[in-house]
Amino acid sequence: MVLDALIKIKNELDSTLTFRRSCREGICGSCAMNINGQNTLACLCRIDVTRARTPRSTPSLHMYIVKDLVPDLTLFYKQYKSIEPYLKNDNPPEGREFLQSPEDRKKLDGMYECILCACCSTSCPSYWWNQDVYLGPATLMAAYRWMADSRDGYKAQRKEKLQNEMSLYRCHTIFNCARTCPKGLNPARAIAQIKIELAAE
Ligand code: SF4
Ligand code: SF4
Ligand code: FES
Repeated sequence: MVLDALIKIKNELDSTLTFRRSCREGICGSCAMNINGQNTLACLCRIDVTRARTPRSTPSLHMYIVKDLVPDLTLFYKQYKSIEPYLKNDNPPEGREFLQSPEDRKKLDGMYECILCACCSTSCPSYWWNQDVYLGPATLMAAYRWMADSRDGYKAQRKEKLQNEMSLYRCHTIFNCARTCPKGLNPARAIAQIKIELAAE
């Protein structure tokens, strides 16, 4: 994998080379970077030994760089925090589990698996141009993940927050996000779903 090559370079050639990694199995999202023109996870990206050219790794696109392959994710996390990515309910059941039907649980499939690697947001042209105001695909899919949760009691407030020109509607359905997601998720579908729900109000 490309991550193995980077570790070898750091161990044997240049100890100053800086990159993030933790799980080395596509779970933590730390090793996201642009490899041969596509944002992906270095630990899941095989080195094609039949290619004459060595893989080219650069930091995720259109982000400020802390050092080498480490982008500054401060704004990304701030946006994620802004959508309150946790269950909110003023009347949770007391003394027992907060149950959900299998059908309602199924509505979260394809969203809860997101590892927040930011590959999608940093591949999105709308996010490149409007990063300061547009939330981007990863954060918007997280927003919809909580809107779609049958146990959450703040659906109306969550929608209200997105009802402005910039936070959501800068998505032009270009689908770069779905094409690049290393977990095979489709943030564009979640964004489209939010638009449908807002339009239905
Ligand atoms: S949707 Fe995919 S690409 Fe985007 S942050 Fe989640 S796992 Fe990464
Ligand atoms: S579909 Fe929307 S969020 Fe996804 S890359 Fe295109 S503009 Fe960005
Ligand atoms: S090291 Fe955790 S996703 Fe690559």
